[in-house]
Amino acid sequence: MRKQHVITISGAGSARVPALVGTLVNYKERFPLSKIIFYDIDEERMGFMEAYNRLVLRSYYPECEVVFTTDEDEAYRNVDFIFCQMRVGKTAMRSLDEKIPLRYGLVGQETCGPGGFAYGMRSLGAMKEMVEKVRSYSKDTWILNYTNPAAIVALGLDRLFPDDKRILNLCDQPFSLLKSYSKILGVPQESLRARYFGLNHFGWFTELKDTEGNDYFDTLRSYLKDHDFKPFNAEQRSKSWLDTYVRVNKYMKLMDEYIPTTYMQYYMFPDEIVAESDPDYTRADESRDSREREVFELCAGAAGKDHMDGLEMLTNSVFGNLMVEVAESIAYDLNREFIVMVKNQGIIDNFEPEAIVEVAGTIGKDGAKGYPFGPIKPYYKGLMEGQYAYELLTVEAFLEKDYTKALMALTLNRTVVDPSKAKAVLDDLMEANKDYWTLR
Ligand code: G6P
Ligand code: MN
Repeated sequence: MRKQHVITISGAGSARVPALVGTLVNYKERFPLSKIIFYDIDEERMGFMEAYNRLVLRSYYPECEVVFTTDEDEAYRNVDFIFCQMRVGKTAMRSLDEKIPLRYGLVGQETCGPGGFAYGMRSLGAMKEMVEKVRSYSKDTWILNYTNPAAIVALGLDRLFPDDKRILNLCDQPFSLLKSYSKILGVPQESLRARYFGLNHFGWFTELKDTEGNDYFDTLRSYLKDHDFKPFNAEQRSKSWLDTYVRVNKYMKLMDEYIPTTYMQYYMFPDEIVAESDPDYTRADESRDSREREVFELCAGAAGKDHMDGLEMLTNSVFGNLMVEVAESIAYDLNREFIVMVKNQGIIDNFEPEAIVEVAGTIGKDGAKGYPFGPIKPYYKGLMEGQYAYELLTVEAFLEKDYTKALMALTLNRTVVDPSKAKAVLDDLMEANKDYWTLR
């Protein structure tokens, strides 16, 4: 049997956790665990799902020890992997991140645009403290970070902890898109080999082959020009997600050289997205009323039960599979292929060496390695230079508490552009976030 590991789920009050637990159960031969520590600072929220998570593990993973804690030391001492998915400020702050920009006719989204800026500033503070705490115990613990906005968090952590080789930032968006391509093409995901470049939530697929070398890229490109793009799990997605996928079609009808990631929509079609947004009901509300409600209801059904008795074990084939497969690939040095976030350093050879880029690569015992990509063309380079400058100024605004840099960052963001709107939205976001960050 493979060596067993101890993991901590940090941010265990997330409604995504029960599905992660089910996925860990399904992977127990591939990535066996001796202990799972559930950690959150919000005991009540974590508590809604505790009985269910315990019941699932008792039923399907009795050999695995289970701990629920609000004690940071217990969570971060003697662990091999931290699966980090904290959401600083929870849904209430996500809701403000989305609604405040809409007051000014700007995109309201949790990771892109001004909302992503505000969330980034919150995440950086908490992530910095977390890494310091974990490293006070061990330099060996792997921190698999799923906390958003991953682009800002990854760049900020790289600046704060430049020598730390055991922080790996993850995003499931390319992984999820590959599942959808696989369904459209009728080719199993395991045999698809993609090439991709960009920044997180800001990139393009450039190649798609199978392991035999058959090329599917042109077929997929033409498909996306005249068939509605649907996620592989369309029946489980709410309206805003289906709209997001269809905007890939809109982009492809205009420019079909490469296939953009779904969140490129916010930078390409901000006006249309704002016009279609309801300033009183955004994605935070939609996800609370759909996914979160369903998960909490299911979990409530576990109270007082000793057996699953027909209760469903949730799993997640996107973020769940990705997190577990990444941990597996590190733990057993598998060097499997993923789309990874890594420091550029020549991977894209005509782009900023210090940027964190997203490209195809491998993951093994030393972390992620990107495949050399070569140069990128002027259109993409221009877009990425602007977005990277936005990311960098956001991180610097956080580190130096610098208002002017924040204003410049937002002005550079393609969802904003106008500096007077940037100032208005920044002032409102700063007021709303005063318990988390401030600028001078
Ligand atoms: C995608 C992104 C993630 C993001 C998630 C939000 O998967 O890659 O970074 O967290 O969407 O999904 P939600 O359903 O909460 O809007
Ligand atoms: Mn993501």
